[in-house]
Amino acid sequence: MTRAAITGLGTAVGRRVVTNHDLAETLDTSDQWIVERTGIHQRRVGGSCLELGAQAARVALKQAETGAADLDLIICSTCTPDQVFPAVANRIQDELGAACGAFDLNAACSGFTYGLTLAQAQIAAGMERVLVVGVDTLSRFTDWDDRSTAILFGDGAGAVVLAPAIGADRGMLSTYMGSEGRFADLLTCDFGGCIKMDGKEVFRQAVRVMVSASQRVLADAGLSPSDVGAVIPHQANMRIIESAMKRLGIPFEKAATVLETTGNTSSASIPLAMDNAVSKGAVHDGDVVLLVGFGAGMSVAAALLRWGQ
Ligand code: COA
Repeated sequence: MTRAAITGLGTAVGRRVVTNHDLAETLDTSDQWIVERTGIHQRRVGGSCLELGAQAARVALKQAETGAADLDLIICSTCTPDQVFPAVANRIQDELGAACGAFDLNAACSGFTYGLTLAQAQIAAGMERVLVVGVDTLSRFTDWDDRSTAILFGDGAGAVVLAPAIGADRGMLSTYMGSEGRFADLLTCDFGGCIKMDGKEVFRQAVRVMVSASQRVLADAGLSPSDVGAVIPHQANMRIIESAMKRLGIPFEKAATVLETTGNTSSASIPLAMDNAVSKGAVHDGDVVLLVGFGAGMSVAAALLRWGQ
């Protein structure tokens, strides 16, 4: 089967920096509490899904040395689209000058990894270049007077170009998409409303599904936790990442994190963490990289790939 490899990566974040100290001016909270319970120091706010998504996509296309006209498909993962319809993906397509099919998918914070899984399937079916964008503007759906949620979220985008891997052992090794609808009420946002959440229970279930999805993609690829060179998890809470890494038996040092400066950016969090890890030199050619996302639904998705083309 033809494996998809990442050939370009780009990101964008909201322009305005909102620190924990800023939040503590209007909420009964403190920098110390937020850092201890979440690991977040600041988040970025601002921009539409179109603006952030197109900005990230342009960088990814440039890095992949791919013209927009060469794209075969655009998949945009978002749960906070600018409009009910058209899809953000249609507007990104027009903005980039692409001529391919384009659609949005909503799997909340698992959406980017869901998108990678669909892109892998299309490349296995013969497509040459697929753009996957993960973008969310959660600040527009955040109740800034609710200290239990306002401390967590931010706005951002990440995009990757996928193409058939050149090396036989490079690219996507295995993927998994899961859903546990019985937990759907744990994290919701109604039309015209704001994010509502049972934080403690989301925390508990998140660790469980992250671990089981990760174990599943490892088993499907015939690999074990000790083979993993880097983990790029959804960036919701540092303590969730620490617990999941511990249960997986992978040293915490192998986890990429970016939530300290971005907060939870939903669909954008995995590509933002990936970009940070790559620029720090934490991901090397040939490394086995585990991506794992979870979120409202409760949705979960994992992808295992060997880094490089
Ligand atoms: N500042 C100060 N105190 C706060 C606070 C804040 N921002 N938010 C809650 N508290 C208080 C609570 O009122 C509670 O006080 P009490 O003991 O007097 O009742 C106390 O802190 C503990 O609250 P609790 O909800 O048990 O804290 P926690 O350790 O579970 O942390 C979250 C809360 C939200 C940070 C944590 O549960 C979490 O991150 N959950 C996952 C959420 C998530 O990732 N959602 C997105 C998934 S994609």
